[in-house]
Amino acid sequence: HIRALIFDLDGVVTQTAKLHAAAWKKMFDEFLQNATQNTGKSQAPFNIENDYPRYLDGISRTEGIRNFLASRNLKIPLGKPEDTFENQTIWGLGNQKNAYYQEIMRQGVDVYEDTVAWIKQKRAEGFRIAIISASKNCREVLRIAGLETLFEVQLDGIEAENRLLKTKPEPDIFLEAAKALNVQTTEAAVFEDARAGVQAGKAGKFGLVVGVNRKDASAGKELLELGADLVITQFPADE
Ligand code: BG6
Ligand code: MG
Repeated sequence: HIRALIFDLDGVVTQTAKLHAAAWKKMFDEFLQNATQNTGKSQAPFNIENDYPRYLDGISRTEGIRNFLASRNLKIPLGKPEDTFENQTIWGLGNQKNAYYQEIMRQGVDVYEDTVAWIKQKRAEGFRIAIISASKNCREVLRIAGLETLFEVQLDGIEAENRLLKTKPEPDIFLEAAKALNVQTTEAAVFEDARAGVQAGKAGKFGLVVGVNRKDASAGKELLELGADLVITQFPADE
């Protein structure tokens, strides 16, 4: 039976997935415009509805950039951590996107009140509860949202990098969270809004993989097709 709950951050607990998507679009549209000028081959702008969930959502910064560029048959060097946009490297693009993201996120973070209320209830009932995120901004987002003490275990993009965990759709970060909570994967439920996250939950053989879909019905169908045991549009599950 389920005695632990593992939540994704962006798009499940806080309303930050759309802030990430907006920052990705701003940076990539600048990049794609340059690419059009430099190669003479016209590049369509970044599409938030398609490119974000498919290539970037739930995935680490550098792997997300690689995924998106590969979808356009574009390739740039990895570069160095201190690169800027002008270097036209993966690190440089990532730094630019992160600057745009932090600029919006630091103006304030909205939480999903339904998720937070449900987590508090489940915690009071004795469930072990963790938060995981591919994002290196996880800690700051939780602080700005006033949620830094809500979770027993926190694992984010910084720890993932330090511990050499593979990014979703690999199950590594969820497995690490289950270990930290001291439960079997079959005893834990995973809550995810990202396609890569649902795939990671399935790959980790978790007891329950719950797709969280706050968008349109078609997005929910995608999560079911990727193996989510159920898809909810709010907490608790709408019956
Ligand atoms: C995920 C987001 O949670 O974290 C992605 O869905 C984001 O859009 C990824 O790229 C990595 O975040 P960060 O803040 O480390 O760049
Ligand atoms: Mg998410």
